[in-house]
Amino acid sequence: MMPTHVAIIMDGNGRWAQSRGLERQDGHKAGAHRVRAITEACIDHGIEVLTVYAFSTENWDRPAGEVGFLLDLIPERLQAERSTIFEHQVRVRVLGDIAPLPFADRIAIENIVRQTRNHDTLDLNIAFNYGGRAEIVRALRQLIEDGIAADDITEELVSTALYTAGQPDPDLLIRTGGECRSSNFLVWQSIYSEFYFTETLRPDFTRDEFEEALQDFGKRQRT
Ligand code: IPE
Ligand code: IPE
Ligand code: MG
Repeated sequence: MMPTHVAIIMDGNGRWAQSRGLERQDGHKAGAHRVRAITEACIDHGIEVLTVYAFSTENWDRPAGEVGFLLDLIPERLQAERSTIFEHQVRVRVLGDIAPLPFADRIAIENIVRQTRNHDTLDLNIAFNYGGRAEIVRALRQLIEDGIAADDITEELVSTALYTAGQPDPDLLIRTGGECRSSNFLVWQSIYSEFYFTETLRPDFTRDEFEEALQDFGKRQRT
């Protein structure tokens, strides 16, 4: 059985670069290029939602140069993959707050989200300036602003105020790079996700290895 929603923490760019005597930036670049093959695999396997952790609310603590590089990477990759996104009818959604981005980048991202709104092959969620706790706080604030009475706040209602509103919870959550923690990713949505951890560093995480994770998930579902 295939998962419906796969979420990935693609970690290990820095270590990959350092082990080759390269700059961390080179690792981020190589890692970013890996998303395409994973996206294609999801389309081929009929997976409905893919969520990729691109930049966490904690990643602001990194050196300014690295932060700047990571912030530039998202609009740049979206632009580079634009024709593929349209050809495959991928719907892009951003989970997180893009307000801190430069104006031009924000507009570029908003445009692609709007223009792909009616695509129906795969939802590609890019978790950017995303934190699971921040997402829950934002959702609760929104419900309060909407005038919802305390007694009327339910789990279902909170779910509708999250960035992932309307999407199924991830049934498979993968983390590359050897760490076995969630690092504030999909805190609300992952309570029943199957976790798959691999030592493989993000720039080495190929389609083949992604498919191994899918197979492993299928086996767990059968037992
Ligand atoms: C993951 O790679 C990418 C982001 C956090 C944006 P890291 O930069 O965390 O790489 P490591 O964990 O230091 O190897
Ligand atoms: C998680 O990786 C966030 C992303 C991959 C974007 P980190 O490398 O930032 O997480 P920690 O610091 O190991 O928890
Ligand atoms: Mg890391």
